[in-house]
Amino acid sequence: MRIVLVGPPGAGKGTQATRLAEKLSIPHISTGDLFRANISRQTELGKLAKSYMDAGNLVPDEVTIAMAKDRMEQPDAENGFLLDGFPRNVSQAEALGELLETEAIKLDAVLDLEVPEEEVVKRIAGRRICRNDSSHVFHVTYSPAKKEGVCDVCGGELYQRDDDSEETVRKRLEVYHTQTEPIIDYYKAQGLVVTISSLGPVEEITQRALEALKRED
Ligand code: AP5
Ligand code: ZN
Repeated sequence: MRIVLVGPPGAGKGTQATRLAEKLSIPHISTGDLFRANISRQTELGKLAKSYMDAGNLVPDEVTIAMAKDRMEQPDAENGFLLDGFPRNVSQAEALGELLETEAIKLDAVLDLEVPEEEVVKRIAGRRICRNDSSHVFHVTYSPAKKEGVCDVCGGELYQRDDDSEETVRKRLEVYHTQTEPIIDYYKAQGLVVTISSLGPVEEITQRALEALKRED
C-alpha cells in the first residue's frame, strides 16, 4: 500500500506510523525524522533544515522534495510506503504526484488524523524522544519510559525536541492550518482522504486506522 499520513503537530502521526508500517509491512518514511537524523550527523542539509525547524517553518520545497524522492527510491519502498510529514503543502503534493506518475503508480489513501488543538498542546509539551532514534517516542504521562529519561527500546537518552517549545508549537500549528491543510482538499478531490479521530488509546487508533484503510482497498 502507498499511504500518506496527515495531521497537525502532535496528532500522533509518528506513533501511529511506526505501528501501521509494521502491521502493513511497508517502510515508514518521515521527513521530520530524516531531517533530525541529518541534524545529529551535522550534515549541510541538517544545518540548513535546523534553522527552519527551530522557527517552526517548513524547510524549502527544493531540498525536502529531493530528500523524500531519494528515500522513496530505496529498494525497500518499491512495493509501498507510509509517508509521515510529506507532502506538507500543495506544491509538494504536486511533486509527489509527478513522481508517482513517472513510475505509473498511485496512492491508495491519505489518512487524516483529527485531534483537538488543546490535546495537541498537551501531547507536545510532554513528548520526549530518543537521541539515538527519533522514532522512539515517549510521553511523560501518557506513555512514560520505564526509567525516567532513558529510552525503553535502546537505552538512549530522552530529550525534548528544540521545536517543542510553546512558541514554536504555536507557529507550527499556524503553518499547518495555512500550508498543510489545503492538501486535504487537494486529495479529497481525488477521493483519497480517510479521516479518523486520533483520540483514545494508541492501540485503538491503530485498529481504527487499519479498518478505515481496509474499506479503501
Ligand atoms: P515533524 O517531525 O513531521 O513534526 P510534526 O508534523 O510537527 O509532527 P510531530 O512529530 O510534532 O507530531 P506527531 O504527529 O508525529 O506526534 P507523535 O506521534 O510524536 O516535522 C518537524 C519539522 O520538520 C517541521 O516543523 C518542518 O520544519 C520540518 N519538516 C518536516 N517535514 C517537512 C516537509 N515535508 N516540508 C517542509 N518541512 C518539513 O505524538 C506526540 C506525543 O503524543 C508523543 O509524546 C506521544 O507519545 C503522544 N501520543 C501519541 N498518541 C497518543 C495518544 N493516542 N494518546 C496520548 N498520547 C499520545
Ligand atoms: Zn531509543
